[in-house]
Amino acid sequence: MTDHILIERPEAAAGVQVIRLDRPDKKNAITRAMYRAMTEVLVAGDADEAVRATVFLGGEGCFSAGNDLNDFLAFAQGGTMGREVIDFLHALAAHGKPLLSGVDGLAIGIGTTIHLHCDLTYASIRTEFRTPFVDLALVPEAASSLLAPRLMGHQRAFALLAAGEGFSATAAREAGLVYAVVEPAAVERDTLAAAARLAAKPPKALAIARALIRGNRAEVAARIDEEAAHFAAQLKSPEARAAFEAFMAR
Ligand code: COA
Repeated sequence: MTDHILIERPEAAAGVQVIRLDRPDKKNAITRAMYRAMTEVLVAGDADEAVRATVFLGGEGCFSAGNDLNDFLAFAQGGTMGREVIDFLHALAAHGKPLLSGVDGLAIGIGTTIHLHCDLTYASIRTEFRTPFVDLALVPEAASSLLAPRLMGHQRAFALLAAGEGFSATAAREAGLVYAVVEPAAVERDTLAAAARLAAKPPKALAIARALIRGNRAEVAARIDEEAAHFAAQLKSPEARAAFEAFMAR
């Protein structure tokens, strides 16, 4: 279906399922097929008792450059958007197993907002988080407009999501988006070790603890849909189309 999402079950991390973004020539930009593959893995992982924790990883120096801008442009030019992105966001928000992520380098758009749904994120010191939604004439997604202000306060959420300010790994840690800042070589090791520790815990108690900490998921799901309606409308705007075309024409 797509070669750009790798599913790994590392021997050294029993009970851990890894979803790895693997499209290095396009900076791990995420296509519709990649969203679909990730959704299937999240849903299957929920139903599989052997999966005790799910981990998102990218590549060396690049987690993800965000949504594939060709897909955005195709929609802006009159194509269909499909359900892939929205289905992925709902599967992400509804996932019942602990979610972890390890980030090294570029983390743009959904490459940043995905971590708002993670329970533990490890980022290398050279990571930069950025969501240029408004610069692309778009709006925040993945319930980031709800989750980020709660997590980091209004002004930092505004700086990140509306002003498009980049956050260094250290700033992201101070804002609560990242649990630990580590050396690039330690990102995967530390993320997988943390996931393995969680996978070894009593799963039901951990699931209850996690659900209590995360709070009202219906509110998150509703915000995903509310943002998506604005997002789809903005995608069709002349400003957005011009921004995508400018990127493609570089
Ligand atoms: N969608 C589609 N293709 C993308 C992409 C994206 N989001 N991000 C990068 N790519 C592609 C580039 O088009 C390029 O392809 P090419 O080699 O066929 O020309 C390749 O990945 C490498 O990117 P490049 O821009 O040459 O690398 P860079 O190191 O100079 O810059 C980025 C990297 C990520 C800073 C830059 O590519 C970028 O700004 N990408 C767009 C990010 C974005 O706006 N995402 C959407 C957020 S909502």
